[in-house]
This record gives sequence, C-alpha cells and structure tokens, in this order.
Amino acid sequence: MNIRDLATPSFLLDLDVCEANIRDMAAVCARTGAELWPMVKTHKSTAIARRQKAAGAAGFLTGTLDEAEQLAAAGFTNLMHAYPVAGRENLARVISLARQARLTVALDGPAAARALASALDAADAALDYLIIVDSGLHRFGVPPAQAAELAAALAGYKQLRLKGIATHPGQVYAAAAPEGVATAARAEVAALAQARDALLKRGFAVPVVAAGSTPTAAHAAASGVATVLRPGNYVFYDNAQIALGVVPAERCALTVLATVLSRPRPDTLIIDAGSKCFGLDKGAHGTSLTAGFGLVRDHPELTVAGLSEEVGKLAVSGDTALAVGDKLAVIPNHACAAANLTSWLVGHRQGRVEETIAIDMRGNARLRPPLVQ
Ligand SMILES: Cc1ncc(COP(=O)(O)O)c(C=O)c1O
Repeated sequence: MNIRDLATPSFLLDLDVCEANIRDMAAVCARTGAELWPMVKTHKSTAIARRQKAAGAAGFLTGTLDEAEQLAAAGFTNLMHAYPVAGRENLARVISLARQARLTVALDGPAAARALASALDAADAALDYLIIVDSGLHRFGVPPAQAAELAAALAGYKQLRLKGIATHPGQVYAAAAPEGVATAARAEVAALAQARDALLKRGFAVPVVAAGSTPTAAHAAASGVATVLRPGNYVFYDNAQIALGVVPAERCALTVLATVLSRPRPDTLIIDAGSKCFGLDKGAHGTSLTAGFGLVRDHPELTVAGLSEEVGKLAVSGDTALAVGDKLAVIPNHACAAANLTSWLVGHRQGRVEETIAIDMRGNARLRPPLVQ
C-alpha cells in the first residue's frame, strides 16, 4: 500500500529518515565518548526505543512515570527519570520501578528528597540521583553554584546516592533567531562545568554530567564536559527545529497526512486535520520563529493559518494546484506534542507502507492501581 491510499488524517513516519536521525545522533555521541540516553517523551513508543537501543543508546530518559513503567515492562533496564517525583502514590510507583530497573532519579531541592528518602527507607531500597542544574530555562534546578550545597544537604540520606548532574537548556526554543542556539549551548555547558567543578571541590564524585536538548546536542557532545546526552526531539525533528536552523525539512520524519475538504474562498483551503493532530503550540517553550501551526511539505504557497479541533485552515498565497480531495503532508511545529495525539504511526519507506508503530507509553496507556484488578 502507498501512503497516498491512506485514509486521513494519518500520522506518517518516514522510517528511512527516522533511522538516519537515530544513527546520526548515536554517531555524534560515539565520536566524543558521551553516552546517549534519548528522552522518550518525543515518541512514547517502545518500538522506536528499540531502534534507538539497537543503534547504541545506553539507556533512556523518561518524562513521566507512565513512560518509565512501560519501558520497564518491555524489558528496558537502564532508565533515568527527568523530574522530581512527589506524592505518596507516585513515590510508590518509583519504588516499584526501582525493583524492576536500574533507575536514576532527579532532584532539585530538599523537600522532594526528604519524601523520597523516607519512602525508600520504608521499602528498604536505595536509588541513584542526579541534581538538576538550571542552565537558563528557569524551570527546575539549582543555580550551578549551589549544586554542591544541595549535595551536602542530601548527603545524610543513605538511601540517595549522588551520581551527578543534569540540565535541559529548553530556553533554546524561545530563541528569537537561530543564533540563539549557540547562546543556549554555551550556557548549558558552562552551567554543567560550574556545577561539576563545585561538586568536585567539595569532594563529591560526578560520574554523570548530563546535557540535554536536540538543538544543542552536538555542541554539548563536543565540549568534553558532558558524559551523557539526553536529547529527545531529534528522532523526528519538526518545524521548530527547521526554524532554529537545526535541520532542513528533509530531516523531519513525522508528518500528518491530510485531505483538502473545501476551498471556501480563493485564498483558503480547509483540511481534515486540526489541533487534535498538531496541537496548538508553536513549539516547545514558545519559539517565535515558526509561521503558522505547521509546515506544508512541498507547498511553499500554503501557511497553516489556523486550527479548529478537527480541521485546519490553510492560507493560500497567490494560487495553488491543490483541489478538494487532494492530500498533503504537514510537518508539525512540535513533533513531541503531535505524536502524543495518536495511538499509532504509519511507518513507510519512500511512500510504501511497511508497519504500524504503536504509541504505547502515553499517559494512561497502562492501567494503574487501584484500577488494576
Ligand atoms: C529534562 C529534559 N531533558 C531533555 C529533554 C530533551 O530535549 P529535546 O526535545 O530538545 O531534545 C527535555 C525536553 O523536554 C527535558 O525536559
């Protein structure tokens, strides 16, 4: 079957492009000796995680406990969780994960650490942890100069073993120009180096120095500072990455296939894919560089000007050869958000459909206690 013959909307994954993206990032890490721990929030798919592992990924970074549980159930044993965990029920999930996998958690303050240490104590368990360092996103994290202070404050918890530091320079996605990528990359490496040196000075070992974003990955790898890279988006890339100058459109593996439903006015086409396929965000952390809600492949005359839930409005500049019933492919602005809006992707090579890929790590993809009978 050819993708032209698919019903729409359909989420398409170009397997050749995706596999090349996976290979290229693995090669970037292999060249510098850094370990690759891809963040799975982009694809939320064990099938894609398997491909990343086969290409050399040392482990995986999770953004939700659903992802971690699904990976552990599928037999992936090297896991890092990106964010602190709080609340009795979720701490119980962390304890249970610690029994199934080699899990490293992340902390950025004493309150979450205290609760986790006490849950671990009650379960007679222990965990490795990383200190989250703020390299400019101003979300989680301690300022680099305070990493050693936090490590010292947590040193009394025998259930928590410090393994290193991690950062995510997500501010890169708010860059007003592609030059902002280099600025964020420098900030990421500088923050990690400063935190690492402060920890070493206080006598802490820092075997893990984890950098993490797709646009800054090559710089972090080449810096010699990062021992671990944790990019996520690179597996698909998207219109935000094109806008930042990270990759050309040919490197984008995920598209949404849609059909033109109407041309109500000469300057407008309506397609059968809307915010429930693309999401409404312009890209992570608010990039201002993308025009519209996605990039229509091979049709520079079209802009995705607006989205309703199930339909999208394309603005036509000049004229277009597309007519009602024709199909087109749209690269989402933010592939991580778009992939979370479908249960499966249609994997194809040069248009020939090869496999369906389940998105099996989404929130609530697995039943949890007390719903599990
Ligand atoms: C903590 C952390 N690390 C790594 C990443 C991966 O970043 P990217 O999607 O730019 O590759 C993210 C993205 O949300 C993140 O939050």
